[in-house]
Amino acid sequence: MLPRSLRCCLPVCFLAAVFAAAPAAPATPASVDDRVRDLLARMTVEEKVGQLVQYSSQEDMTGPASSSSIAPQLAVGGVGSLLNVKGAAETRKWQKFAIDSSRLHIPLLFGLDVIHGYRTIFPVPLATACSWDMALIEQAEHVAATEAAASGLHWTFAPMVDIARDPRWGRVAEGAGEDTYLGSAIAQARVRGFQGGDLAAPDTILACAKHFAAYGAVQAGRDYYTTDVTERVLRDVYLPPFHAAVEAGAVTLMAAFNDLDGTPCSANAFLLDRVLRQEWGFQGFVVSDWQGILEMLEHGNAGDLREAARQSFLAGLDMDMEGEAYARHLAGLVRSGAVPMARLDAAAGAVLAAKFRLGLFDDPYRRGDEAREKAARPVPEHLALAREAVRRSCVLLKNNGILPLPTAGLTVALVGPLADAAADQMGCWNGEGRPGEVVTVRQALAEIYPGARLRYAEGCRTTGDDRRGFAAARAAAAGADVIVAALGEAKSQSGETTSRTNLDISGPQLDLLRELHATGKPVVLLLMSGRPLMLETVEPLVAAVLVAWHPGTMGGPGIADLLTGAANPSGHLTLTWPRSVGQIPIFYAHKNSGRPAPKSGHPEDPYYSRYIDSPNTPLHPFGFGLSYTRFALDRLRLSAALLQPGGAPLTVSVRVRNTGTRAGEEVVQLYVRDRVGSVTRPVRELKGFRKIALAAGEAQDVSFPLTPADLGFWRADQTFGPEPGEFEVFVGDDADATLTAAFTLAQ
Ligand code: BGC
Repeated sequence: MLPRSLRCCLPVCFLAAVFAAAPAAPATPASVDDRVRDLLARMTVEEKVGQLVQYSSQEDMTGPASSSSIAPQLAVGGVGSLLNVKGAAETRKWQKFAIDSSRLHIPLLFGLDVIHGYRTIFPVPLATACSWDMALIEQAEHVAATEAAASGLHWTFAPMVDIARDPRWGRVAEGAGEDTYLGSAIAQARVRGFQGGDLAAPDTILACAKHFAAYGAVQAGRDYYTTDVTERVLRDVYLPPFHAAVEAGAVTLMAAFNDLDGTPCSANAFLLDRVLRQEWGFQGFVVSDWQGILEMLEHGNAGDLREAARQSFLAGLDMDMEGEAYARHLAGLVRSGAVPMARLDAAAGAVLAAKFRLGLFDDPYRRGDEAREKAARPVPEHLALAREAVRRSCVLLKNNGILPLPTAGLTVALVGPLADAAADQMGCWNGEGRPGEVVTVRQALAEIYPGARLRYAEGCRTTGDDRRGFAAARAAAAGADVIVAALGEAKSQSGETTSRTNLDISGPQLDLLRELHATGKPVVLLLMSGRPLMLETVEPLVAAVLVAWHPGTMGGPGIADLLTGAANPSGHLTLTWPRSVGQIPIFYAHKNSGRPAPKSGHPEDPYYSRYIDSPNTPLHPFGFGLSYTRFALDRLRLSAALLQPGGAPLTVSVRVRNTGTRAGEEVVQLYVRDRVGSVTRPVRELKGFRKIALAAGEAQDVSFPLTPADLGFWRADQTFGPEPGEFEVFVGDDADATLTAAFTLAQ
C-alpha cells in the first residue's frame, strides 16, 4: 500500500514527471569513482542532500512517523532511500516514480530489516549463532538475500553485531551472544552471506552492521537507554565485531541509539570518524537508527534539529533515517558554511557509489522481479536449509536419558502455548514470513505420532493469568507416556522494546509446568524464547530441556527431528545462562578481581567477591550444550612452550573421541588466559573453535594455530597488541574447559 502522503498526490506528481524534460544521459564513465564524480558534478546541493534522506512507508514502522510528505520530495530528487517498502510490484512502482519524476533519474535504495530470513524465516540470530557453524550461517543469509532481492530490496539492516551480555535486553535475540571472538566470526559470515562476492549480482543485498556501537551495553538491560563503557572495554569487547564486518566488506553501518561517553552515537565523531574512517578505512556510508538524529534533542546534546543535523553530519553520520533533520536543514547548513561541501560530497558520493556497485544505474529493476519473487517463495531448498538450521541451533541443556523419544509405541502429550503457535515461532522481525507457511511443533509431531498418539492442549498463554486450560492439559498428560511442554516467550516478548526485569517463564506457564510435573509423567521442556529464561527451579521438575529459541518457519520439523533422534543436538550456548536475574550481567570472560571466590566449598572467610545467596557460577556456562552421544577430550599438546613473535604459530592440539553409541557433533573450544598484563585481563577468552562430526567410536585430532596477533588487547599505553609473558590455554566443550597447558610469548 502507498503511504498516506503519496496516495493523495501521486497522480499530480506522475503527470509532472511525465511532462518534465529529462536531460540526456551522459556516456558511461569507466569506474564507480568516475561515475560518482560525474554525477556529483551535475547535482545541486538539494539533490546531494536528497541522497542522504531516508523515509519509511507507513507500514512496519519501528518508531514514530515523521510528518513528511514523501512524493513531492521524491519528485525533486529529495529522497535517496526508502525503508519498509517491499515486494517486487511495490518497489517497482516507487522506483519508477522516483526515476521518472526526478531530474537526474537517480534510483532509490530499498532497505528492510531482513534479520533472520525474508520469506523463509530461519531461527533468530542468537539461535543460529548457537550452531557455531559459519558455513550454515552464511548460507542462511544468502537465502535471505536471494528472497529479499527478488522482492526488490537492496539493503538489509543486518547483521546486528552488538555484543550482548544482558538477557534482560530483548534484543539479545538479534545478535550472536556475548563473545567478541565468536561474534566477529559470525559478523563476517553474515556479511558474506548477504553481500556475496559481487554486489551487482541480482541475488545480493547490502549488509548493515549495527548498532554502532555498544548498544548491547545499555544500562540495566533497558532498551534505548544510556551506556557507560570505557574506551578499553569498547575496543576490546564491543568494537571488534564491527571491525570484522568492515573487513568482510560491509558497505553500511547503522549508528546506535545510545549515547557513549556523553555523546549519542548518532553524532559521535570518535566512533564515526576516528575509529571507523581513520583507523579502519571504512569507505561505505553510515545510516542513523530510526529518528536517531531527532532523538538528540531528547538526549540533550542539541537544542534544536538544525544543531542536531550539524553535529551528526560533521561527526560522520551520512543518512538520516526517518528524521527530517537532513531534509530540513542540511542544505542550509552547507550554504551557510557550517558544513563543508566536501563533507556533503563524501556522504552523497558514498551512497551513490553503493547504488552504482549494486548495478542500480544500469538496471534499477534488476532485483525486483515478480516472477522471480514468486519462484523465491519458500522453495524446498530454502526450507530444507531452514530445517537444518533448527537442528543445529537448538541447545540440549539437560537429558536424563529420556531423549530421544522412540517413535513407535509411544503416546505424547504436547502441551503449552508455543506448541502450535505459528506466528510466535517466527520470533521478532519476520520480514515477509507468513504464519501460514510455518510448520509448528504440533503439526510436525502429528506426522510422527498420528491420531490419538499425539494429545495436544494449549494449557495457557505466555502472559496473563488465565488457567482455564489447565484441566485439558492435565487430561492430555494423563493419557500419555511423556509430556513435551512447549513454553517460553511469545514473539511480542522478544526483540526490540521488550526489556524484562523478571526472566522467569512468564504468566501461568510455570504453574502449568508444576501441574504437569505433578502427574508423575516425565516432562520434556521445550523452551522457545529469544533469550535465556530462569531455569534453576525448573530443571529439577523436568527430565530434559531442549532450548529451541524462536526457530522460524521450519521450527516444527527441525525440533521433531531432534526430539526423536533423527538429528542429534549440537548447538552450544553463545550466552551464559544465569541462575537468576540478580547475577546479570554474567559472562565467562570476566575479570578475576583481587578476591576471586574459591572454586569449591564454602570457606568461613566471607571476604571474597561473591554473593551470600547464590553461587557465582551460572546455571550453564557459555559454550555449553549436550548431545545424545558423549565426547571425551584428551591429549592436549602445544607445539612449543615458547611463541616467538614473527616465528611460526603455536599449535594447540587435542584429541576428541566420540565415546557414545551415536554419531554426533562436538564444538571444540580454545580459551586463553593472559596471566599478567599492563592492565587486568579476563580469566579466559575464546581464541578458536571447531565444530566436528564424529561417528560413534571415532576419534579426531583437532588443532588450533595461535599467533601473537591473536593475543592482542588494548594495552595500558592505549595501543593494541600482545604483551610478552605467560599464557594459559584451556580446551574443552564449554567455557569451563579443564584441559590446560601453558606457554610463554617471547619479547
Ligand atoms: C531499530 C533498528 C532497525 C530500524 C529500522 C529501529 O527501531 O533499532 O535496528 O533497523 O528500527 O526498522
